[in-house]
Amino acid sequence: MQLIDGKQTAAAIRKEIAEQVDQMVARGEKRPHLVAILVGHDGGSETYVANKVKACEECGFKSTLLRHEDNITEAELLAEVQRLNNDPDVDGFIVQLPLPKHIDEEKVTHAIDPTKDVDGFHPVNVGRMTIGAPAFISATPQGIVDLIQRYNIPTAGKHAVVIGRSNIVGRPMSVLLSQKGIDCTVTLVHSRTANIKEICQQADIIVAAIGKPGFVTADMVKEGATVIDVGTTRVKDETSPRGWRLKGDVDFANVSPKCAFITPVPGGVGPMTIVSLMKNTLLAGQKAIYK
Ligand code: GUN
Repeated sequence: MQLIDGKQTAAAIRKEIAEQVDQMVARGEKRPHLVAILVGHDGGSETYVANKVKACEECGFKSTLLRHEDNITEAELLAEVQRLNNDPDVDGFIVQLPLPKHIDEEKVTHAIDPTKDVDGFHPVNVGRMTIGAPAFISATPQGIVDLIQRYNIPTAGKHAVVIGRSNIVGRPMSVLLSQKGIDCTVTLVHSRTANIKEICQQADIIVAAIGKPGFVTADMVKEGATVIDVGTTRVKDETSPRGWRLKGDVDFANVSPKCAFITPVPGGVGPMTIVSLMKNTLLAGQKAIYK
């Protein structure tokens, strides 16, 4: 069993990005600029955004954090999105989710100019990705593809089972794994699938993105399979100073001995998600997707 080290892989990619930024600056080009909008004080979102700002620094990007209280109106937030759409100094921006209940997340996400949508959530980017055209690709599935490729995990003709059909992870993941060059045969299973266990038993690659801690058990996994764990549920842990720890969707202790490759939680997919956003920001700064 080989552990897939997302932390180390993400650090290597950040270094490659920083080298490219150095070259851009040496050519007299501006540093890529990422803006993050954070509404309210959700603990998870605060951590994610702080990590994104830190990653920007490590990559040599300019970053701006725009904070708003959770009483901001939808109209005010949409006006902020329009302002960023029209600001030539901003290469890409994200609106950190979740948003307060009185704001329609879909409306806000769809208001972002697709050429600045470094989260890859806009339907134009999702559509372009689906037909294999240049697109900003959602960070978590892109990070998983990078892990699979950097660890030289065979994919052509392999059966990949994606568990979970979210717009951010499961669904785009299923599309990417089926694309030319990756060439998996893909099955997407979800909460209404009747025989998840039997389908998973046939998988060469399992991507678990269902948000149920410990969902994937050893009896679901074929000997020699690769298991990618996207789950990050906070569970109570009195021994941790924070009072909680992250638990993945995979029963790691019992599944890992059967695997050829497996990602840990934390330190697997998580660090890759942020570095994928950095990759998209670099592409936005280079105007490489929308020319
Ligand atoms: N909330 C959880 N993950 C993400 C993400 O990748 N992007 C944004 N904007 N919000 C999130």
